[in-house]
Amino acid sequence: MRQILLSKQAIIAFTLCAVGTLLAAAGDDGLKAPNGFKDWYFANSMLLTTDQNKFGLNAGNHLIYINAKGLERFKRGDASPYPDGTVFVDDVRSYTTDGGAYLDAGRKFLTTMVKDSKKYASTGGWGFQAWVGGDPSKPVVMDAAKQCFACHTSQKAHDFAFSTYVD
Ligand code: HEC
Repeated sequence: MRQILLSKQAIIAFTLCAVGTLLAAAGDDGLKAPNGFKDWYFANSMLLTTDQNKFGLNAGNHLIYINAKGLERFKRGDASPYPDGTVFVDDVRSYTTDGGAYLDAGRKFLTTMVKDSKKYASTGGWGFQAWVGGDPSKPVVMDAAKQCFACHTSQKAHDFAFSTYVD
């Protein structure tokens, strides 16, 4: 039933709007799965096991990257906002265990935050999106305010980013 309703809405939207607006209406914020982030600055990591964690986040090895645009601010670590064009990636890796070792078992999610203070003003100036397995055809965020920003808002004093520079 929900699917039928959604497709009716999609048809109406298609009739009324240009394609760009249609994508927005369908919950697609236009964010693209970033390419080449493995050449960016490796900012931080956090291994979340299947034990319950205090954030309620997905288990996985979270590998955080930041692009050159935001690097200076990241290293400074003060309260100033990240410049527009900053991109964070959280490459969430599955793992297996073998004899006390945690082994990489492929990409679980590719998660990103893109700074555009005007476009994403309602979510702290950040666009949020994540893709299952990094597959561009499988975005998971339909409501960034609820699914992402609600938790990131706790980091307001750090422009909504959790990761901090570690030496
Ligand atoms: C329950 C809290 C919570 C929710 C919900 C959440 N995050 Fe995060 N996020 C974190 C924490 C904690 C970190 C830092 C730890 C980590 O994942 O490495 C983080 C880190 C990130 C980072 C790396 C930059 C940074 O802030 O350190 C990105 C990108 C990111 N999250 C995107 C998202 C997206 C997109 C969503 C929505 C699908 C989302 N987050 C939802 C808690 C949350």
